[in-house]
This record gives sequence, C-alpha cells and structure tokens, in this order.
Amino acid sequence: MASCQACELAQQRNRVVPGEGAEDADLLFIGEAPGFNEDQQGRPFVGAAGAFLDDLLSSIGLSRSEVYIANVIKCRPPGNRDPLPGEIEACRPWLNQQIEIIRPKVIVTLGRFSLARYFTNETIGKVHGKPRKIGDIVCFPMYHPAAALHQGSLRKVIEEDMLRLPELLKNLEPRACTPDDGGQQLALL
Ligand code: URA
Repeated sequence: MASCQACELAQQRNRVVPGEGAEDADLLFIGEAPGFNEDQQGRPFVGAAGAFLDDLLSSIGLSRSEVYIANVIKCRPPGNRDPLPGEIEACRPWLNQQIEIIRPKVIVTLGRFSLARYFTNETIGKVHGKPRKIGDIVCFPMYHPAAALHQGSLRKVIEEDMLRLPELLKNLEPRACTPDDGGQQLALL
C-alpha cells in the first residue's frame, strides 16, 4: 500500500494511512479518509475525531489495539475534500483485502462514505445504530465521530449507538464477514 499509485492522491500525500489495530479484531471501524494529522503521521484518526473515537471505544471497555480502524480511502484528499468516486474505486481492493484478512464479526461504518459501501439510498439519520446483515456481512452504521464535533447534539446519539456493540457481538457467530458488499440487503438482525 505504501507505494500505491492507483489514483492521483498519490502525488500529494505525505504518508499512506493503511489503518491500524488487531489483525484478528472482532470489530472493524471504517472511516472516510485521512486528514491533515493522519497524513503527517501515517496513522488513522489521530485528530480530534480520533480522540472521541478513543473515548467511545473505552466506553465499551476496548482500546485501539483490540479493534481495527481503517478508512475507505488511504490517502488524504487535498484540503480534506470529499473522496471522489474514482478514488474510492481505486482504493477498494485495499479495503477488501483488509476485510478478508481481518474477517471481523462486525463492520462499523463511520459516516456516509463507508455507509455507502453497504447501504444504498438510505440516510445515516435513519439507519444509524441498527445492525443489518447484508449478504454475510454484519454491518453497524454509525455517524462519523467528527459529526459530533460540528453538531453537539449528535454526541449522545453516537455514544448510545456505541453502547449497543457489546450485546451485538455477544450474539454473533465468529468471523461472519467476507470482503465485499455482496449486493442485496437481507434481514434486520
Ligand atoms: N481521520 C481518519 O483517519 N478518518 C476519518 O474519516 C477522519 C479522520
């Protein structure tokens, strides 16, 4: 990944940000894209949103080293603009490989770009905090932690959604997920 040239973001990045955590994690969190700090350090979620994510993890008794944290795209878009569809496609094989290696029990999508991998035409406001089995993937959509920094009222919503994860994990078969979205949304868990 460190030498990837699959899209134009390769020209401007300082560091590729592959993700970090446990290779056998039950929970895989997928954010959006590296920002300024992540691009400098080569690590995901190291800014203010990352500090909130750390607090959320500790609210369920977990630390970063016990989960895996990745992003839809691995290089910073200039000026922190939204990832472009071509960039998301170029990076898709990397994320697919990560999912294949980690085989998490639950994929937690953070924000709309990772949500869009699994949910089409649905808004985060409607689907957040509700686990759904999509093919053989168990997906748990959450607001992006940065949303709480811009809109304080979302903080409690995000905190409450996070607290649902331990119970969800307890009720799942091990290693439920496979790499890609697999198309159809099946049933609500
Ligand atoms: N930092 C990341 O690594 N990803 C995000 O989505 C936001 C901040």
